[in-house]
Amino acid sequence: MNVLLATGTILLIVVLALFVAVMGAHGYFMLRNRVPYVVLPDGATMTVAEKLGVRDGDVVYDLGCGDGRVIAALRSGNSKARYIGVENNWVVWGLAVRRLRGKARLIRGEISKANLQEATRVFAYLGPKMMAELEPRFELELPRGARVVSVQFPLPNRKPDKEMELAGSASHAARLYIYNY
Ligand SMILES: C[S@@+](CC[C@H](N)C(=O)[O-])C[C@H]1O[C@@H](n2cnc3c(N)ncnc32)[C@H](O)[C@@H]1O
Repeated sequence: MNVLLATGTILLIVVLALFVAVMGAHGYFMLRNRVPYVVLPDGATMTVAEKLGVRDGDVVYDLGCGDGRVIAALRSGNSKARYIGVENNWVVWGLAVRRLRGKARLIRGEISKANLQEATRVFAYLGPKMMAELEPRFELELPRGARVVSVQFPLPNRKPDKEMELAGSASHAARLYIYNY
């Protein structure tokens, strides 16, 4: 009986410690990024996929790929492109790895370190600061013909080639900004 009680207590402590570690890591990245981990609703993903227009052989980057759901949806539309997700939050990066199981390259690291020179399609659902940082990089690094689709946050200085409302669900309405380079 005592052994059972002790084992139960140890298990409970381990589970609690794991929970605190995971939530702590998640909170740390949320504060550091100032870009919360918010997922794109499934309904909106269809529109994003359509506007990105992934072609065979494209190299598609999801900058801040979260749990990989957008890459998974894009890949189910076209599996003949190469998909690369960049995510600095260990917790959600782990979820993406689990979801995609080797079907995409998932870089656990900073967007600032990602090599955009090969990216022919870029998806971003980030924040205003990050879009401002990315704008000069897109100009310099993206190959001619590349397309960027951003949810909610436009590039501060470049006029989008197209802008539209993105209605994914009753509770989520955002704008979509499309840039052709
Ligand atoms: C709004 S969520 C979008 C997630 C996913 N793209 C989607 O649409 O479902 C933004 C993601 O970007 C990640 N992120 C924010 N800043 C980052 C950075 N500097 N480097 C890498 N990832 C970052 C966050 O951790 C978060 O998972």
